Amino acid sequence: MTCFDESSTTSGYARYLAAKTTVDDRALNRQVLAELCRLMPAGAPRVLEVGAGLGTMVARLLDWGVVGAGEYVLLDADRQLLDGSRQWLRDWAAARGLRSDMLPDGLQVGDLRVRLVHAELGRFLEAAHGELADVLIANAVLDLVDVPAVLPGLLGLLVPGGAYWFTINYDGESIFAPSHRCDERVMRAYHRDMDERIRYGRPAGESRTGRHLFHHLRDAGAPALAAGSSDWVVYPAPDGNYPADEAYFLQSILNTIRDALRNRQDRVEPADLADWLAVRCGQLAAGELVYVAHQLDFVGRSPG
Ligand SMILES: C[S@@+](CC[C@H](N)C(=O)[O-])C[C@H]1O[C@@H](n2cnc3c(N)ncnc32)[C@H](O)[C@@H]1O
Repeated sequence: MTCFDESSTTSGYARYLAAKTTVDDRALNRQVLAELCRLMPAGAPRVLEVGAGLGTMVARLLDWGVVGAGEYVLLDADRQLLDGSRQWLRDWAAARGLRSDMLPDGLQVGDLRVRLVHAELGRFLEAAHGELADVLIANAVLDLVDVPAVLPGLLGLLVPGGAYWFTINYDGESIFAPSHRCDERVMRAYHRDMDERIRYGRPAGESRTGRHLFHHLRDAGAPALAAGSSDWVVYPAPDGNYPADEAYFLQSILNTIRDALRNRQDRVEPADLADWLAVRCGQLAAGELVYVAHQLDFVGRSPG
C-alpha cells in the first residue's frame, strides 16, 4: 500500500521539505535558540548552513529576526534542490513583501546575501575552502552523516569561538498512534537500516545521533552550552485535518519507512509491512494518525 509515490522524486522531496517547515517551527527548542541568539555576533555575520535543502531555515531565521544582514551560505549535495531553493526563497520573500534580487550565485533578500554552494559535505571538508563562518547550522542533517568523522572538520569551518547550532537530530524513538501489532518490529528494522545506511560512498548516520552528540561534541572540544528536545509532534486538528501541508509530511515519512524496508524482507515479513502501511495510510486519510519523533537540538562554540 502506498499513500503517494511522488515523495521519492526531487519535486516530491522539495514539497516534503516545505511541508516540514511548520513541523520544525513547533519543534525547534526555544531555549537552545535563545542561547544561539546570545552567541550570534552583532552586525553582518557570515552564516554557513550545511545540508540546507530548500533553504527553509534561512527563511525562518529572517522571519524570527535571528538573521537580517551579512552572508548566509546554503550548502547541499542535491543540485536540483538548491536550484529550486532560489525560486522557493523568492516566492517566500514576495509573499512577505520583502525585496529579493537574483544574483549569479544565489540571491539578495533585503540586507542578506544568500549564496548557494553545491557540494557533498565530506568532499567539501577534504578540499581547501575559503573564509571561515561565524555561525554554523545543520538542521535535520547530522543524523544523515558519520558524525565522529565529520565533526572536527565541520567545527573547523568556524572562526575560533564561532557558534554552532545543530538541530532536529533524530534520537531513536518514533511513535505512531494508535498502536499496531507490528510497530516494534517495523521501528527496530527501520533503525537498523538507518544504522547501516551508506550514501555518497560513506556511512550515513545512525538512529541515536541525538544522544551521542553530547559526547561527540565534548570529544571534539566543543561541548554543548545548551541542549534540549525538539520532538516532531504531528496530529490532526479536532476537525480531522492536518495543519498546512503536514498530511503530505506524514505521507513522506511513511513512504520513507516503506522504501527503507521493502527490500529488507529478512527484517519485517512483506505481509506485515504491507498491513502496517495500509493501516497507517488509512489512519492518515481518516485524520486519526498521530506521529511523534524524538529529536535533540544543540548549541555551542567551536574550540578556541
Ligand atoms: C532531511 S534534509 C534537511 C534539509 C534542510 N536542512 C531542512 O531541514 O529542511 C537533509 C539534507 O541534507 C542534504 N545532505 C545529506 N547528506 C549530505 C552530504 N553528505 N553532503 C551534503 N548535503 C547532504 C540532503 O541533500 C538534504 O537536502
